[in-house]
Amino acid sequence: MENSTLGILVMAAGKGTRMKSDLPKVLLPILDKPMLGYLLKTVLDCEPDGVAVLVGHRGEQVCDYLKAFPAIEPLWQREQLGTGHAVRVARRWWERFDHVLVLNGDLPLLGLSTLRSFLKEHFHEKAACSLLSFVTKRPEGYGRVIRGSGGSDGGVSIVEHKDASPEQRLVEEVNAGCYIFDVKRLSSVIDRLKNDNAQGEYYLPDVVALMGTAGLKVRASIAEEEEALGVNTQAELAAMTARVRDALVARWMAAGVRVMDPSAVWIGPDAELAPDVVLMPGVQIWGNSVVGEGSVVGPYCILRNARLGRRVNLTANVVVENSTLCDDAKAGPFAYIRENSLLDERAFAGKFVELKKTRVGKGSKIPHLSYMGDAVLGENVNIGAGSITCNYDGRNKFPTTIGDRCFVGSDTMMVAPVTLGDDSATAAGSTITEDVPSGALGVGRARQRNVEGWTSKKK
Ligand code: UD1
Ligand code: CA
Repeated sequence: MENSTLGILVMAAGKGTRMKSDLPKVLLPILDKPMLGYLLKTVLDCEPDGVAVLVGHRGEQVCDYLKAFPAIEPLWQREQLGTGHAVRVARRWWERFDHVLVLNGDLPLLGLSTLRSFLKEHFHEKAACSLLSFVTKRPEGYGRVIRGSGGSDGGVSIVEHKDASPEQRLVEEVNAGCYIFDVKRLSSVIDRLKNDNAQGEYYLPDVVALMGTAGLKVRASIAEEEEALGVNTQAELAAMTARVRDALVARWMAAGVRVMDPSAVWIGPDAELAPDVVLMPGVQIWGNSVVGEGSVVGPYCILRNARLGRRVNLTANVVVENSTLCDDAKAGPFAYIRENSLLDERAFAGKFVELKKTRVGKGSKIPHLSYMGDAVLGENVNIGAGSITCNYDGRNKFPTTIGDRCFVGSDTMMVAPVTLGDDSATAAGSTITEDVPSGALGVGRARQRNVEGWTSKKK
């Protein structure tokens, strides 16, 4: 094993007909990550000498996704004539290795340690082919593992569900869709596959029987059903998603995260949470979000690629996308913080506040009903209710700069590009079109006029 080379080939060219989706099956997400991504991570963690993915149905989309994995080579199977055909098409690729591990693309829960011990057993047994099987009470649709069907060691072979006799269908050991082949042996039989079966396809599992008949050693290792389950229908996808969700929430609770209602919290596979984070019901945390120690994520908050420091408090219904909240910052209820915005330490964005590409300095406050876009706010600024940066003229976006300790009166329209110097202020209701110097008050509103006796005249 030490000196031999291993290639891993993932088959992802199929339609996934039973999903009835426009997306290729392997790109359907479990939580916020395509099903294929889970398997590819495990495969790469195995540190093989090469990884390739067979693409075909909606192959451009799969290739696009694979760009995130520069070490993985896409291979085209233009016509999908079955799993045996798929492996034959990739022959030039896998013939450069001593062994090739072939996997169905829809095995997201397959674990690294299972794969490692499967490989170890294969090498130890010096088999021509090892396949992974599992035992299930619901074998419908899977290929049945028929043991004692010839070859040395009694051998094994696979009969597809559609080709199986009623008696064979009673077998509860099924093929998981994960195989290791000795490359020389595989080369010697792959051309002998036929498609004279119920589906008119070239079946990869038929290689197992061909090898057995040729007197080569073929064997099956039994894996946990949990890890070997495939995904063929939307119902199975939802069930698997629930399983992955439960496992992730349990993992974070074990790491010290406090979850009030574990059944009502969603955490993506790439999120990172610190101990003593508190997650209230209805929270969703996606992408590469990071939540620091002691932060409280209130009910119905949605984080996507959000970075929260320590002791951040999101009251409720806060959406944070691709943005950062530093230590002791506060937001919500009902705030929307997006596109590279940042709340520095102790800053606050309150009720019905939207921040877009905006930096808010230490201790600054935007308590209510405001929109800040393309803006930089200094330290200890106070923004009065209803204030807006008018950053867009219909064609271009312009910046607003607000200095340290500014006091922006309620309902100020800041028409960008515009700068408010340090310690400046604006009068409530002002439309600010010109820069306000440091320490000055900017007034940009019509003077009030009172019409005496107006009410009685009207009557
Ligand atoms: C396959 C196995 C079956 C096993 C089951 C486990 C065959 C013939 N049968 O059945 O014994 O119990 O997996 O889930 O292999 N693919 C291609 N090109 C093709 C056809 C399929 O790349 O021409 C890919 C698919 O994208 C998928 C994988 O191969 O990732 C398996 O295909 P699928 O149609 O799901 O196989 P099953 O019918 O489920
Ligand atoms: Ca199929």
